[in-house]
Amino acid sequence: MSAVIEERRGRIALLKLNNPPVNGLGWPVREGLDAAIDRLGKDADVDAIVVTGDGRMFCAGADIREFGTTPPEHVRGLGKILTDLEAMEKPVVAAIHGVAAGGGLELALGCHHRVCGPKTKLGLPEVSLGILPGAGGTQRLPRVAGVAKALEMIVSGRLVSEKEAFKAGIVDELVDGDVDAVIDAAVAAAEKLAAAGVPPRRSGERSDGLKEAQGNPSLFDDFRKSMAKRARGMNAPYACVRCVEAATTMALADGLQYERDEFVKLVDAIEAKSMRHAFFAEREVAKIPDVPADTPTRPIQNAGVIGCGTMGGGIAMVFANAGLPVTVIESEQSALDAGLEKIANNYAATVSKGRLSQEEMDRRMGLITGATDLTELAATDIVVEAVFENMDVKKELFARLDKVCKPGVILATNTSTLDVDEIASATSRPQDVIGTHFFSPANVMRLMENVRGEKTADEVIATVMKLSKTLGKVGVLVGVCHGFVGNRMLHQYLREAMFLVEEGALPQDIDRVIYDFGLPMGPFAMCDLAGNDVGWRVRQEQIKAQGGTPSNARYSGTIADKICDLGRFGQKTGKGWFKYGDGRTPTPDPDVEAIILETSKELGFARREISDEEILQRCLYPLVNEGAKILDEGIALRASDIDVVWMHGYGFPRFRGGPMFWADTIGLQTIAETMQRFEKEQGPWMAPSPLLLKLAADGKGFGDA
Ligand code: 3HC
Ligand code: NAI
Repeated sequence: MSAVIEERRGRIALLKLNNPPVNGLGWPVREGLDAAIDRLGKDADVDAIVVTGDGRMFCAGADIREFGTTPPEHVRGLGKILTDLEAMEKPVVAAIHGVAAGGGLELALGCHHRVCGPKTKLGLPEVSLGILPGAGGTQRLPRVAGVAKALEMIVSGRLVSEKEAFKAGIVDELVDGDVDAVIDAAVAAAEKLAAAGVPPRRSGERSDGLKEAQGNPSLFDDFRKSMAKRARGMNAPYACVRCVEAATTMALADGLQYERDEFVKLVDAIEAKSMRHAFFAEREVAKIPDVPADTPTRPIQNAGVIGCGTMGGGIAMVFANAGLPVTVIESEQSALDAGLEKIANNYAATVSKGRLSQEEMDRRMGLITGATDLTELAATDIVVEAVFENMDVKKELFARLDKVCKPGVILATNTSTLDVDEIASATSRPQDVIGTHFFSPANVMRLMENVRGEKTADEVIATVMKLSKTLGKVGVLVGVCHGFVGNRMLHQYLREAMFLVEEGALPQDIDRVIYDFGLPMGPFAMCDLAGNDVGWRVRQEQIKAQGGTPSNARYSGTIADKICDLGRFGQKTGKGWFKYGDGRTPTPDPDVEAIILETSKELGFARREISDEEILQRCLYPLVNEGAKILDEGIALRASDIDVVWMHGYGFPRFRGGPMFWADTIGLQTIAETMQRFEKEQGPWMAPSPLLLKLAADGKGFGDA
């Protein structure tokens, strides 16, 4: 079957892109489109042309897999094809449905009239691939939708609804019906335009949208200032702004050339490679080699959540947000009331910010029912346990659930550290037990580490992976170990941050380096946000269990303990590693600095100047090294899964592709050698993992593991 199918509707030629699953504009599609434009322009039996996508969408843009490859010589670039399409004398109408993204929207903008169906998403998301719209999008969108709207859409990469696109003038006509109705309307529009005999309305020749920039010379600088925080460390967002600015100062042909030059500079850079890796990693993560896509899943129509504290409350909201009824269990009525009130307050805060309607809040609250009796969960499809992090409490609870719940229920635990297999052993159905490790705040963070126990059934894994998607989360399948993937690696990072403070750095130095690298905040601001008391309690438990700190290891909690002894638990007490005043902005605190200096002395460190480079390497290389161990042990299926965990659970910058991809861009030999040096300088905990050493010796990366 041809990549561009041609049909006739009377004197209208209908071109359907045919490249499943998303009609990506790969070589055969471009070749087909190019040839059709040439042919139909000369065909005396054709009055006008309609372009659409076969299958489930119009077009999701360039074929991302082709980036970095060279097309055969006769296949022209999309930009040139669209210039010819736009220049046609015969009217060209786009019949848009499903998705028109990136080159897909650029194609539509190259047409003279746009008809769009319901539930359609339109936008230029190239920036989230580290590039810019390279086929005229930065030149045509501002002319059609206005400079401010185009800037916002192109720099955020946000896809808008058909209604928003219509309001912005991107779409000329909305049709309420299925694909066939959209095509019929587009054919009718094409016939009308052809009959009218007026010259086509070409986006590139329009100037209405550019006017708003002419009277406002500071528009672009103001925009650059407003995006500085979001765009830090990246080139693509700024290149997008430059191109839109060029649209307001250059003739179309020059603007298109400028855009092309900027596109070429970006497309092979590490930023774009990292973001392409992120894109494919997020899709790969759903594929489990030994749990094929056709594995049966169990229906999930309702849920139970046990414990309505920090996590349980958030998890209940996640289910309600996805439209699933959820029963929340607490053992005491007072704790239940407090938990439900917290949920209501949480929703109310979103309503007051205008991000949720009161009606929608009421609908979601209506899906949440509280109870204090476990038997209320008898008919539930999935139960997520989020009670205290204590093995005895959890085992006792799972034994009771085993008696109460119907056969086939999925019994999930939100434990962040405990052994899922041991929890499962408290039931007579370990095959139905799985970990669903949400991240805090559960209703915001997108990551779910789905922890596969030794006996977890494939069907249960498939169901929970599918459920993650239904809940709007990114599910990553991991194995059982202390801290699973994310927190086990985090532990390495936090430990080195603490050691660096003992040796000479201050929390604000470390946080600055990590923030500038691209994480949303540094380790100390993160601890203050999560609550320093959490780690403090864990350390105390460990010390008790071990009968003191082991003499052969360096203890990383010396300063943190002193901070906690003073009740400095972080943001919730107004003070932690930093002080907070009334707000949430961390400010360095001389009292903390005094404690640090005093402790360094007690521990016998002559404080030294620590470079930004050392801070970055000491914090991140051990984290990567632990990732290598996790990979070697099979706790994560792929290095790219670890990247997904870090991007969605901890805000590791997408433009670096996640820690494992980033490590590949540095070179594993460099990382292995640096870890060997750290091992000598610091201690055995810095020893490079065997997998890291092997890959480094073979000149390979984690992508080859
Ligand atoms: N190129 C190649 N493959 C693509 C693709 C693209 N543009 N878009 C999606 N795919 C693939 C996915 O990798 C996935 O493959 P798999 O089944 O083998 O894993 C399959 O298509 C289905 O994709 P999703 O799972 O993402 O499907 P959804 O229905 O959830 O989402 C979508 C559909 C909203 C279109 C989403 O796929 C998407 O956002 N795609 C990327 C859109 C984009 O960034 N376009 C810009 C491309 S760059 C460009 O156009 C440059 C131009 O300016 C010159
Ligand atoms: P929390 O202390 O805020 O909430 C626990 C709730 O469970 C309390 O409201 C308590 O009353 C209730 N509870 C205790 N035993 C119960 C029982 N037998 N029946 C019914 N309710 C009971 O604790 P948090 O922080 O929500 O943690 C819950 C679980 O989630 C733990 O396993 C924790 O390790 C895990 N987790 C916590 C994260 C966090 O950032 N707080 C992140 C990810 C996982």
